[in-house]
Amino acid sequence: MKIAIIGAGKAGLCAGKHCLKENISFDIFEQTGNLGGTWFYTDLVGHDENGAPIHTSMYKGLRTNLPNELMTFEDFPYPKQIRSYLLQEEVLDYVRTIRKNSTSIPISNTLSADPFIPDIPGIESFSGKVKHSHDYRTPEPYANKKVLILGSGPSGLEISQQISNVATKVFISHRSKDALPVSDALYQKCLVKEFVENRAIFEDGTSEEIDDVVFCTGYNYNFPFLSKRCGVKITNNYVHPLYKQIISIENPTLAFIGIPFKACPCPLFDIQVRFVLASLTGHFKLPKKDVMLKELVEEEKRKPGPPSSQYHQLGGAQGSYFDNLAETAKIRKIPPVIQKLYLRVISNRNLNDCFKIIDDHNWVQI
Ligand SMILES: Cc1cc2nc3c(=O)[nH]c(=O)nc-3n(C[C@H](O)[C@H](O)[C@H](O)COP(=O)(O)OP(=O)(O)OC[C@H]3O[C@@H](n4cnc5c(N)ncnc54)[C@H](O)[C@@H]3O)c2cc1C
Ligand SMILES: NC(=O)c1ccc[n+]([C@@H]2O[C@H](COP(=O)([O-])OP(=O)(O)OC[C@H]3O[C@@H](n4cnc5c(N)ncnc54)[C@H](OP(=O)(O)O)[C@@H]3O)[C@@H](O)[C@H]2O)c1
Repeated sequence: MKIAIIGAGKAGLCAGKHCLKENISFDIFEQTGNLGGTWFYTDLVGHDENGAPIHTSMYKGLRTNLPNELMTFEDFPYPKQIRSYLLQEEVLDYVRTIRKNSTSIPISNTLSADPFIPDIPGIESFSGKVKHSHDYRTPEPYANKKVLILGSGPSGLEISQQISNVATKVFISHRSKDALPVSDALYQKCLVKEFVENRAIFEDGTSEEIDDVVFCTGYNYNFPFLSKRCGVKITNNYVHPLYKQIISIENPTLAFIGIPFKACPCPLFDIQVRFVLASLTGHFKLPKKDVMLKELVEEEKRKPGPPSSQYHQLGGAQGSYFDNLAETAKIRKIPPVIQKLYLRVISNRNLNDCFKIIDDHNWVQI
């Protein structure tokens, strides 16, 4: 058996790490020529010198939104840190240590991150600069401008804060009915209804004159390199039909690592990869196709509304998802301390907090 791993980001390197451990032959194909996926920062946006799309969405000054204790692969602790919340370059150094402990990696080529830009009337004739956070690198181009940020996910919150240090005025437009707990330097607005020349018209009827717009509206799932024959579809940003959000039910030797979001990516990748390898090596037998489809349909019914990207959101359900994978494939569990610390940090991210994991069940704040 030989495994083709597409992408040398954290998920691909994690897959390679487990293949090595299990003595399974593999190649990793990477389109950019760089290791680290989105953690590989470059000033470039658009396309590189070979015409390949720039993959990374990193910007200068990014601090992680999880403490490094939750961004750790099994058997690969971070070097001792004085802080829990790291800088982008510290995470990239960590990713490179996985490479040093791996084998040589063949490099290949194709897609890029796929930014989601909502279809808002009038944006095509808006007179200022418009970009997606995927192409945001530094706040300087926004000095002395009136800037509108759309979206209040991690990108929207952090980028609006960075830009507010140099801009004349920053508006952040979001869906939440309640005010966000953000600095007073940001003017909070509801959703944008339309743009008319250089004005944004909001759903509450108010309007503001704007110089530049940054869409921090997230990303689409996209696998342009997969043919239709693979049987994997994306409907309303929901990837299906997948068993446990990982394995293609139509072609069970095709697996996707890292589809669920609002999760701790490294532990998620570890257990998803171990789940896949357990099925490929015969450690556990996948159910028959009709059984996997039935489970999926039941799971879809348990979630409100027609399936959308929200189907892939874990959040508080992350711990039970991990346990379900471990129990199904009879593989080692992710220690409960991961979910316990995760629940603590998603309710309160303070960059000065410093944590230490004591054992599989306990963490302390130091
Ligand atoms: C701005 C930003 C900040 C983040 N901050 C955090 C954080 O603080 N903490 C955290 O845990 N997570 C964070 N994340 C989430 C981050 O996405 C994950 O931590 C993790 O790095 C994702 O790894 P990945 O390998 O799945 O994807 P990526 O890092 O995107 O890597 C995918 C790789 O696949 C390659 N590729 C794609 N298609 C092909 C192809 N057809 N052929 C060959 N190669 C291909 C790409 O070039 C890329 O190298 C952040 C994400 C973003 C965008
Ligand atoms: N410091 C960090 O560590 C850091 C920084 C940036 C990003 N990240 C990571 O990068 C990934 C992507 O984050 P992201 O913030 O780019 O995307 P995201 O988490 O998907 O957030 C996008 C936000 O845009 C909103 N939105 C969509 N359409 C909108 C519209 N028309 N008007 C206003 N808001 C709209 C969405 O709201 P609805 O969901 O309600 O549609 C959502 O809140 C995540 O994994 C995140 O953790 C981390």
